[in-house]
Amino acid sequence: MTTTSMKLILSILPILIVGFIPELSTGNDHRQFAYTGFTNSNLTLDGAARITSTGVIELTNDTARIKGHAVYPSPLRFRLSPDGMVQSFSTSFVFGILSSFGDIRGHGFAFFIGPSNDFTKAFSIQFLGLFNSINNGSSVNQIFAIELDTIQNTEFGDIDNNHVGIDINSLNSLRSNTAGFYNNSKNGMFTNLPLIGSGPIQTWVEYDGNTTQISVTLAPLGMEKPMWPLLSLTFNLSTVLKEESYIGFSSSTGLTTGHHCVLGWSFVMNSPAPIIDSTKVPKLPYLGQRSPSKLLEIILPIASAVLVLAIGTVAVILVRRHLRYKEVHEDWEVEYGPHRFAYKDLYRATKGFSSKNLIGIGGFGRVYKGILPTSKSEVAVKRVSYSSKQGIKQFVAEVVSMGHLQHNNVVKLFGYCRRKGELLLVYDYMENGSLDKYLCGEEGRTTLDWGQRFKIIKGIASGLLYLHEEWDKVVIHRDVKPNNVLLDKEMNGRLGDFGLARLYDHGTDPQTTHVVGTIGYLAPELVHRGHVG
Ligand SMILES: Nc1ncnc2c1ncn2[C@@H]1O[C@H](COP(=O)(O)OP(=O)(O)OP(=O)(O)O)[C@@H](O)[C@H]1O
Ligand SMILES: *[C@@H]1O[C@H](CO)[C@@H](O)[C@H](O)[C@H]1NC(C)=O
Ligand SMILES: *[C@@H]1O[C@H](CO)[C@@H](O)[C@H](O)[C@H]1NC(C)=O
Ligand SMILES: *[C@@H]1O[C@H](CO)[C@@H](O)[C@H](O)[C@H]1NC(C)=O
Ligand SMILES: *[C@@H]1O[C@H](CO)[C@@H](O)[C@H](O)[C@H]1NC(C)=O
Ligand SMILES: *[C@@H]1O[C@H](CO)[C@@H](O)[C@H](O)[C@H]1NC(C)=O
Ligand SMILES: *[C@@H]1O[C@H](CO)[C@@H](O)[C@H](O)[C@H]1NC(C)=O
Repeated sequence: MTTTSMKLILSILPILIVGFIPELSTGNDHRQFAYTGFTNSNLTLDGAARITSTGVIELTNDTARIKGHAVYPSPLRFRLSPDGMVQSFSTSFVFGILSSFGDIRGHGFAFFIGPSNDFTKAFSIQFLGLFNSINNGSSVNQIFAIELDTIQNTEFGDIDNNHVGIDINSLNSLRSNTAGFYNNSKNGMFTNLPLIGSGPIQTWVEYDGNTTQISVTLAPLGMEKPMWPLLSLTFNLSTVLKEESYIGFSSSTGLTTGHHCVLGWSFVMNSPAPIIDSTKVPKLPYLGQRSPSKLLEIILPIASAVLVLAIGTVAVILVRRHLRYKEVHEDWEVEYGPHRFAYKDLYRATKGFSSKNLIGIGGFGRVYKGILPTSKSEVAVKRVSYSSKQGIKQFVAEVVSMGHLQHNNVVKLFGYCRRKGELLLVYDYMENGSLDKYLCGEEGRTTLDWGQRFKIIKGIASGLLYLHEEWDKVVIHRDVKPNNVLLDKEMNGRLGDFGLARLYDHGTDPQTTHVVGTIGYLAPELVHRGHVG
């Protein structure tokens, strides 16, 4: 073998042997290394960063607000003298960002060149473990970085939640672009490349010391390097970097997390970066247990169960509501609209016909006190059950016509409401109840003096006269008895319960005869003949 061919073999040897142990050429201006996997590598790790058993650097894990750094162990000489210009350099790395929870993402990571490998003062979350709120933007930092950012932080002017940016001393990128690449075989057509979940992505970062041109190129691992860089910027790094600087990766998580992994990395001064053999880089870890689909498997059934339950509950509530407030409406009632009450209103007025509101039980039903929700007026609601459909039309007509009676000694009938097998009559509420309670000396009631009795009798007589003669139609009460004489606030006697005889035909009250009315309180000839006169 000739010496020249020996030299040739020796010079390309570093490029051929791309192994786990980095190749280092010691010449000051030709420092270079190439990692395919990081098993046994001598990188300085801090924070959450660790090297997995397969040789992947995992900068972060699913812990919130952590930092992770992987830094080349010794600083590199970027200038040959303190005043010299920063040399050209070229680096390439293969990375992958994984999310345990689908599109829930961490903050991204950065490749950096900086004066120190101590990042204890840097913040996590949107500061990517590189800067903090005080030193952001300060030239004291002497940091050059390429951010691969997966969250849009408007405070740093981020363009979107999937971008690549060139940063100098600050998280506000001097140039940035949505992550992607220009496809060589498609005449440089731009293709988006989601940083999360696209599998391994290769990145090239190059700096030309003569022209001060910085360029950043991305491509899916295995694809040849695109001819057009994603980003390029002319910036004299001689004004930024120290003579000796550390290089490495920095990442952080916020409330949301991601796994930022580096699979391979090469670097060289003054020539193109050593090629990373895409077939030899370790595989991205598989976040088996909490993969997005797994998460969906858990969340989806729960969510759908909750949804079904919610719909079911709403349906049951609506049906119950509908049944509770269900009324009977027929076409002929349309004209009585103004006299008709909604069952819902009566239900609310009487607090659901609660026993607290019950003021009396008559022969045909219960009477409840209520306060109408809209007018706030006090009413007595009488619930009468009826079985026959016949006569109801005529009866309602009478109820409505009696609603027009207007006399101081007649209990005002406001209107009605109809449900299946049930009729509700709404009367003016009489504070002092019915006369029988006074006459029969019910406990707690004062007995009436003669003046009061006379006033009541006069009132009833006046009421009867009105019903019999003063109103357009003749109304026969047919059941004047103490329980049907009600007393208002001023202890005026008022006639109640009149004209309802038709409905009461089918009554069951032992006190009420079939003749309609109560014997003893009726004109004898009415009891006898069954009709008036
Ligand atoms: N408008 C009203 N204001 C205040 N209380 C009333 C009113 N209407 C009825 N009441 C009370 O409800 C009770 C029952 O009245 P209801 O008219 O149903 O039966 P009754 O008159 O006692 O018997 P019948 O059904 O045989 O005529 C009355 O005794 C009275 O105390
Ligand atoms: C993630 O990293 C943090 C910080 O180093 C560590 O405390 C935690 O145990 C790690 N979590 C897992 C699941 O490895
Ligand atoms: C790792 O790097 C450090 C710092 O450069 C050095 O001190 C140490 O000897 C290296 N160890 C190995 C095993 O290379
Ligand atoms: C960070 O620094 C840049 C450059 O000085 C500045 O424009 C930006 O406002 C700073 N942002 C924050 C959040 O401090
Ligand atoms: C680049 O373009 C070629 C030709 O259209 C296509 O076959 C290939 O899939 C593209 N590469 C990527 C990574 O999209
Ligand atoms: C930079 O300029 C020097 C001197 O002009 C030249 O020798 C060198 O090849 C140039 N380097 C590059 C990368 O163009
Ligand atoms: C870059 O900056 C250095 C130091 O400020 C200077 O010496 C050098 O000429 C600059 N290079 C270019 C290309 O402007």
